[in-house]
Amino acid sequence: MSILVTGATGNIGRRIVDHLIDMGANDIRALTTDPAKAKLPDGVRPVVGYLGRPDSLSAALTGVERMYLAPLPATLDTTLRMIKAADVSYVVALSGDGHWQAHADAIDASGLANTQLGPGEFLENLAIWADQIKSTATVRDPYPDVVEAMISMDDIARVAATLLMNPDQARHGQMYELTGPEALSRAQIAQQIGVGIGVDVRYEQCTRDEAIELLRPIMGDNAAWYLDTIGAAVDRPQRANQLVAELTGRPAQSVADWARQNAALFVAD
Ligand SMILES: NC(=O)c1ccc[n+]([C@@H]2O[C@H](COP(=O)([O-])OP(=O)(O)OC[C@H]3O[C@@H](n4cnc5c(N)ncnc54)[C@H](OP(=O)(O)O)[C@@H]3O)[C@@H](O)[C@H]2O)c1
Repeated sequence: MSILVTGATGNIGRRIVDHLIDMGANDIRALTTDPAKAKLPDGVRPVVGYLGRPDSLSAALTGVERMYLAPLPATLDTTLRMIKAADVSYVVALSGDGHWQAHADAIDASGLANTQLGPGEFLENLAIWADQIKSTATVRDPYPDVVEAMISMDDIARVAATLLMNPDQARHGQMYELTGPEALSRAQIAQQIGVGIGVDVRYEQCTRDEAIELLRPIMGDNAAWYLDTIGAAVDRPQRANQLVAELTGRPAQSVADWARQNAALFVAD
């Protein structure tokens, strides 16, 4: 059974490839513009192409039964038409609501059998606090009360691979809102990073402007956009669900677990 992973060298796609191997998939195709650079695991077949150049997809889609669709809104409509024309029988797509709603609607309207994954904020984004924690054991942030149930990229990938291996167990035409195991305030998230790395991490509220200055070296001009997106959720606490555990049989990673696994980011050598 042939499974195509797009964005296969990206953050999510690459992890999906690994999980599909672990789950015993025997015909994994990985879309990449540069197979030599891609360093894909043995047994994975690189196929040359990029979602941003739909003309490069025809050959990649030939004979594909199931696929992971990485998010690229600019070319989505053409890509969906090509996937339909190639008779792909099931698509798992990274998607979401809010900013991603138009993307989600287009996939809904495509007529393809699909399941969409709408994660909240990625745990990996906590790396933006790494320098502060390393040098001062303190997180300075404007939004202590914003509540999130952050999820790791690996858990998103694990769900995607599970669904691709077991399409009959998935709800087709639905959006799975994937979350981490518990909802925590940003102040609690900072504290839980500390639990994970064995350091007493303090949280100090600062102004939006101070936070922009702290984050600009890491995020450039996206710092203000990022903070405003977080701030907009102050009256909309995210709720945690247990979908990752229900779909995969293993709970999603907690903040502390993720921080422990990535302690090198937060602890000086
Ligand atoms: N709800 C949410 O939070 C949500 C929802 C949907 C999407 N997202 C966003 O989705 C993204 C997922 O990212 P991802 O890291 O998994 O990877 P991706 O953006 O899905 O795929 C990246 C891959 O595309 C290929 N590529 C080829 N030409 C490229 C070009 N000109 N520019 C960029 N990429 C090119 C590269 O592979 P080769 O070099 O091998 O060709 C690269 O590894 C994140 O940015 C995330 O923020 C978030």
